[in-house]
Amino acid sequence: MPADPTTMRARAAEFDQEHLFAFWNELDEGQRSALLADVERIDFGLVQKLSATGVTEQATYDPKQIEAPEVLPADPTGALVERYATARERGVAMLRASKVAAMVVAGGQGTRLGYDAPKGSFPIGPVSNKSLFQLFAENIRASQQRYGCRLPWYIMTSEATDADTRTYFEENKYFGLEPGEVTFFQQGVMPAVDDAGRILLAERHRVALSPNGHGGSLTALAERGVLDDLAMRGVEALSYFQVDNPLIAPADPLFIGLHALEQSQMSSIAVVKVDDLEKVGNFAKVGGKLQVIEYSDLPEELARAKNPDGTRMLNGGSVAIHMLAPQFVRALTGGGALQLPWHIAHKKVAHIDLSTGKAVQPDKPNARKFEMFIFDAIPLAERTLVLEQHRRDCFSPVKNATGVDSPETARRDLVRRALRWLAESGVKVPPEQDGEPAATVEISPLRALDAEQLRANAPKLDAVQPGARLMIE
Ligand code: UD1
Repeated sequence: MPADPTTMRARAAEFDQEHLFAFWNELDEGQRSALLADVERIDFGLVQKLSATGVTEQATYDPKQIEAPEVLPADPTGALVERYATARERGVAMLRASKVAAMVVAGGQGTRLGYDAPKGSFPIGPVSNKSLFQLFAENIRASQQRYGCRLPWYIMTSEATDADTRTYFEENKYFGLEPGEVTFFQQGVMPAVDDAGRILLAERHRVALSPNGHGGSLTALAERGVLDDLAMRGVEALSYFQVDNPLIAPADPLFIGLHALEQSQMSSIAVVKVDDLEKVGNFAKVGGKLQVIEYSDLPEELARAKNPDGTRMLNGGSVAIHMLAPQFVRALTGGGALQLPWHIAHKKVAHIDLSTGKAVQPDKPNARKFEMFIFDAIPLAERTLVLEQHRRDCFSPVKNATGVDSPETARRDLVRRALRWLAESGVKVPPEQDGEPAATVEISPLRALDAEQLRANAPKLDAVQPGARLMIE
């Protein structure tokens, strides 16, 4: 049923937001429907509540309340060796029984990369130029083959990325996946408000709406029927990752198995931070509860704090890889009860000037945007775990156009991993030159998902020559 203009207008007026209809008389029918659809998506009460808080809201932490969290090490010793072996077996059994599903959050607008299409379609294969989405799809397809299982994939999009993402998969025939095993679902939105708490118009007939953060995936999973689908398929572990990380292995038996053995509701992967102030989330125990503190919220004193032996106290960086128990998400979101904190960012938001009707491109932050973060669900879980992994195996995100965490560094790390796997398969590889790989090699996920699989299926190759460019399919 289309929204009724009188009701919508009255609703906006009740919250002092009637200016959203400032250009109503000049709009055609189609534009009026678009505006009404936007207005209908706004939770005015929530916006009012959030606007009442300061310009930006930064969490504060009392250093006395903060401790290092327990982290399962990347390289087990003692009793953990056997525990990891048992976990791996459990993970493999769960994969074989089709109890695992993958989920990627791909609703972000990718502004930092400056790429004008869904980030997942960005070409990243160092030799093949395969896109991030293609690498994930092939990884999932290879896992389906390896374990003889179903491994459904849920792709969270936003209004900005949804249509283009679907078209991209259709045009590419889902990269060989069964279309029925790939589900797109859209996250919710929040409007941007100016410093006086007024909701901005992006166009005369469109509200300035933006995705409500990756924490919005939890409500979207419930509201868009994904939790029901997971229950119907008997999925017990949902493997969560971000669209920007080409090194991800969504079906990691160790991580899945530990999550299951520990009956964890939300598990996470950590890597050792490269330096005190690295721009990642930090695992910490706050008042006894595991939590991720975003670098921007972490007081520098804590970021630099050391243990008596000189090691860094908060040394686990979050790579935004999680394993979620669907029942936990169900419990969190049941009856619309989800209570994740809102993070408020002060940003430059283009909008329509209400008096002139003209577009304004601000040159300094003029508005607040509201987002929820997935990792804020961790302290809401009774059972959690953090597993450390080596960065070189699992994390090299594409965030910036150049410099750190850029396409260049991600490609380099894909090549390094490929060369390492080859070396472990007995292939001679050239040493790095000036800190850079001396050859460009890419291994298709369809050939091998890890070093072990490559060893079992090693290419007939004695050595990689310096300067070589090689695709191992
Ligand atoms: C994020 C984490 C950081 C972590 C780092 C690892 C936050 C606030 N920080 O940083 O702790 O160390 O990743 O790479 O998340 N997305 C949506 N919908 C949204 C917003 C984002 O789907 O509304 C998706 C994006 O498409 C992307 C992911 O979430 O896949 C990360 O978003 P981004 O805002 O780029 O996070 P970072 O600041 O890079």
